[in-house]
Amino acid sequence: MDRLISAVAIGIVLSVVNCEDATTVPPKVIHWNETGICRKCVCKDAKVNCYDESLDKFFSKEEWTNLKEFKPTIVDLSENPITNVTVLAELPVKVLNLSRCSIESIENASFKDLQQMEVLDLSHNKLTTDKLSPHAFEGRYSPEEYEPLASMRTLNLAYNDLHSLNQDLFEHLPELTELNLNGNPLTTIDYATLIAISSLPMMKVLKMRSCGLTEIPEKFLHTPKFLEHLDISDNKLTSVPQELEETKNLKYLNLNQNPIVKLDMSSEDYPGFPRLRKLQELHMCNMKKLTSIGAGALAGLENLKKLHLSFNPKLSFIDPKALARPDDIGETYDWPLIKELYLQSNNLSEVDSRLVSRWDLLDKVDVSNNPLLCDCSTQWMVDILVPVVESKAVNGSELMVCKEPIEMKGYTMKHLHEIHRTMRCVDKYGNRPEKDGAMLLGTLIGVLLAVPIMFTLLLLWRRGLCAWMGLRGPQDVSRAFYKRAPAEDNYI
Ligand SMILES: *[C@@H]1O[C@H](CO)[C@@H](O)[C@H](O)[C@H]1NC(C)=O
Ligand SMILES: *[C@@H]1O[C@H](CO)[C@@H](O)[C@H](O)[C@H]1NC(C)=O
Ligand SMILES: *[C@@H]1O[C@H](CO)[C@@H](O)[C@H](O)[C@H]1NC(C)=O
Ligand SMILES: *[C@@H]1O[C@H](CO)[C@@H](O)[C@H](O)[C@H]1NC(C)=O
Ligand SMILES: *[C@@H]1O[C@H](CO)[C@@H](O)[C@H](O)[C@H]1NC(C)=O
Ligand SMILES: *[C@@H]1O[C@H](CO)[C@@H](O)[C@H](O)[C@H]1NC(C)=O
Repeated sequence: MDRLISAVAIGIVLSVVNCEDATTVPPKVIHWNETGICRKCVCKDAKVNCYDESLDKFFSKEEWTNLKEFKPTIVDLSENPITNVTVLAELPVKVLNLSRCSIESIENASFKDLQQMEVLDLSHNKLTTDKLSPHAFEGRYSPEEYEPLASMRTLNLAYNDLHSLNQDLFEHLPELTELNLNGNPLTTIDYATLIAISSLPMMKVLKMRSCGLTEIPEKFLHTPKFLEHLDISDNKLTSVPQELEETKNLKYLNLNQNPIVKLDMSSEDYPGFPRLRKLQELHMCNMKKLTSIGAGALAGLENLKKLHLSFNPKLSFIDPKALARPDDIGETYDWPLIKELYLQSNNLSEVDSRLVSRWDLLDKVDVSNNPLLCDCSTQWMVDILVPVVESKAVNGSELMVCKEPIEMKGYTMKHLHEIHRTMRCVDKYGNRPEKDGAMLLGTLIGVLLAVPIMFTLLLLWRRGLCAWMGLRGPQDVSRAFYKRAPAEDNYI
């Protein structure tokens, strides 16, 4: 203020002097660093930084015009209590950040003269379905398209108050490739919203986290042919959306935090994944209800590289063939070449050796914090998986801890590997041979019974009745008691 007054005072003095000289004053040229915007914000290296400057009014078109010489490419107005956005001037801005501004309305064609704008961040504002009009994004006349903002690629509308989208909302944004709708209370994808999304043929990235979605309707993902990245985490989906089948180019899918109950190829209510040939990364974590993943449920993901299946407290079963798909002839199975496998903090008692075709080709693997069963069925984990885990992360197998049987509780698989422990089998009645007392007693009874039986048999044989009765050998009985270990060459 003082500066302003003294400037005015000097001006008056000068004009008095000038009057006396009877010459005219040249109109004062405002340099960009003296305009309202750069006095309130930091203008440096083509960036106008107004972050958290307590601005309560959007700058006028004149103030924006005075910035022309500065040639700003980034304008950050985030974290200011601005409620209304008004028209900006022609500037070479590429990124305009209006995040966290309490914005309620955007004047028609506000960004019309920002023909180079690629990124517009309107997240964390108060935009509603009624207030956010398609005209807000109106651009300049173009013979081919409808007044486009032709450079716009990324629009962030996350955490506003949108219950639905105007079906024409993106009519001026034909080249949009990334749309963020996270945290809007959509709850259902209604017809207008579906039309709006379907008007974005170039879309590659769609984020709809925390939108309260209960289902993904048919045809929703049909138009965006190039969709590569889809985040529908933290919604209310109870099964894997079959509409995903439309996303032929999807590479990344996030389904975290959905109440999906199970994946079962034979169930109509809880099916597995459709074929997604290009999917490389799948996230299914923090699923409070997920209990099991059945055979073939992930088999359609033939190019999967990163599988995140962690922090699912009820996930107790993953079928050994979850990822395996029968080859064309149906004789053998093919597996995707998994590079990263995350199975930590589930309720898994074992990890089957057949889940992945080549454990040695993993770059990252984490199976820690599961209630592991340590018997002969998981011997391969001690022998083969532990060294794989250790080679990727030092002490990575320290949190692979035995929960059952009781004799093994608390041992880490790392330790069992180091002492070359051979774990015993649990028989089919759940008896633990480790309970040596019981076993000894059993053996004793067996021996005691065997003597009279042998004696009787001997008698019968002597009388030549054995063949007549058709008695069979003892091999079949013992086979039923012990689970056969998988033939190594098939799986590893
Ligand atoms: C504005 O920029 C001009 C030219 O770079 C410089 O001479 C002047 O001192 C600057 N004024 C302020 C207020 O920074
Ligand atoms: C913002 O625009 C609305 C009309 O959309 C108007 O009623 C309101 O007074 C404006 N607020 C300010 C602070 O300019
Ligand atoms: C906009 O600003 C917010 C908060 O200052 C920041 O978190 C966000 O990353 C910025 N957006 C862009 C596109 O730079
Ligand atoms: C915005 O433009 C539309 C169509 O041109 C018009 O109907 C509407 O009244 C305009 N809104 C404002 C606030 O000027
Ligand atoms: C974990 O699995 C065991 C059986 O494997 C089951 O008894 C237990 O209830 C499961 N826990 C949860 C939280 O589902
Ligand atoms: C691994 O664990 C051992 C024993 O608990 C410890 O001495 C060592 O420092 C750990 N190494 C790393 C890299 O954490």
